[in-house]
Amino acid sequence: VMAAIHVDPARFIDEVDPRIYSGFTEHMGRCIYGGIYDPENKHGLSDPQTGYRKDVLQALKDLKVPIVRYPGGNFVSSYRWQDGIGPKELRPRRPELAWLTEESNQFGTDEFIAWCRELGAEPFICLNMGTGTLEDALAWLEYCNSASNTFYANLRRKNGHEEPYSVKYWALGNEVWGPWQVGQMEAQDYAKKAYQWAKALRLLDPSIKIISCGETGYADWDRVILRKLAPVVDFHSVHIYTVSEGKHLVNVMGPAAAEKALEITQSLIDLAKIEGNLSKSLTVCFDEWNVWDPVRAPGEKGAEEHYDLSDALAVAAWLNVFVRKAGIVKIACIAQSVNVISPIITSPEGLFKQTTYYPLLLFSNLMRGTSLDVHVGTAPGSYYTEATVPAFVQHLTLHTPDHAKLTKFVDVSAVLSPDKDEVRIAIVNRNDAADYTIPIRFGPAAAIEDDIVVHEVWSPNIKDSNSFQETKVDVVRREEKFDGIYTLKKHSFQVLVFRLKM
Ligand code: AHR
Repeated sequence: VMAAIHVDPARFIDEVDPRIYSGFTEHMGRCIYGGIYDPENKHGLSDPQTGYRKDVLQALKDLKVPIVRYPGGNFVSSYRWQDGIGPKELRPRRPELAWLTEESNQFGTDEFIAWCRELGAEPFICLNMGTGTLEDALAWLEYCNSASNTFYANLRRKNGHEEPYSVKYWALGNEVWGPWQVGQMEAQDYAKKAYQWAKALRLLDPSIKIISCGETGYADWDRVILRKLAPVVDFHSVHIYTVSEGKHLVNVMGPAAAEKALEITQSLIDLAKIEGNLSKSLTVCFDEWNVWDPVRAPGEKGAEEHYDLSDALAVAAWLNVFVRKAGIVKIACIAQSVNVISPIITSPEGLFKQTTYYPLLLFSNLMRGTSLDVHVGTAPGSYYTEATVPAFVQHLTLHTPDHAKLTKFVDVSAVLSPDKDEVRIAIVNRNDAADYTIPIRFGPAAAIEDDIVVHEVWSPNIKDSNSFQETKVDVVRREEKFDGIYTLKKHSFQVLVFRLKM
């Protein structure tokens, strides 16, 4: 039994910020080396001048990635950025403490910026608050952004880059709360230090956007950090990964926890602003999110996940959360963009697109414009029961009235297109056991054409995945007549495009 999906094009939530479709490239596993940068490639896949993989650039261009975060992740916390500039033959190899490998430094800041320009994305740099000093951070900012006649700006010029790079986004460290982090800190210690860093960075370049290091968005860490840093930062970062534990229902329900987390983060931001008497913009930069099971794909082994259809549905559910929370989340970076927990896998001979590539493609191309309020009616049996949701979701939702709201089988977000002539509805049927035939109703002032376009991600088996040899899961596009009711196949994702009668 299923009630209707209600979408009213007159009920706006907020503009969908295109930056929610951003990426992340870390010096980890085969993300940089062998992923985006492969100068030795013998199959002609890399640009002979730059060494950038052309096929990877094209796959990411199709995703319209607006921002890319770099160089970590955990990697950054022992990274010396100065090692990665200047003549390549002089760059030192260093021990790497996050993933216990060696860093050749053949790819560094200049290569990253040039790669971003090729991609058409804005660079976002995360600063080393582990082994790095404020002096190093200021030097990095000066190297990238300064137009002055000063040492690091001149060093950039000497390295062949006359114009400043104007890197807008700078983050104050990565997961500084984590026991795995080089330079882990207590919340109060981090808050004091990061406050001083933010002040100094802004003195050097007042135009930058600064991101504080958050945790899950609902941790005590977040409360402490926001209270202290709200006056000096523009975004608060949140990281959450969801895990399938090999079970479909657990996999696709994980993002419900992120949605609840974001509601709490919003309250913590509100509280910090109220207490600090601040009327400024301060929103969430969800700069690591994805489906990742570190047991299945350990970080130390390069975290190469092999995703199936269930994971694609989880990614679609994640993106639904970001569209629904358009008022809170202004940047989100899938972790990561190539090979490492990624929608794209390369080999020296080519690449393949994982199942998770396709929901990203549909969202980034279609789910832009204005996020619309959606209501999905619940009938008995149309949402997960307490027993079947993952512990993580239970922990966040069970004690709140949100449980049924967040754990519906049918998970929906909607936008009014940028030209205001289409309503686009992204729907995941998270149930792997039942199809739903469900009415879709629009607000009283909206008249809809009966020709619709459907973009569907589906496969008969929830465990179907892609490989270099075959593509079992991708997007099927078709045109249909819409008579007010739509049938959602079990374990399917679709974006339905409705034209408004003008
Ligand atoms: O994205 C992989 C790792 O996950 C990142 O390096 C770290 O920030 C997080 O723990």
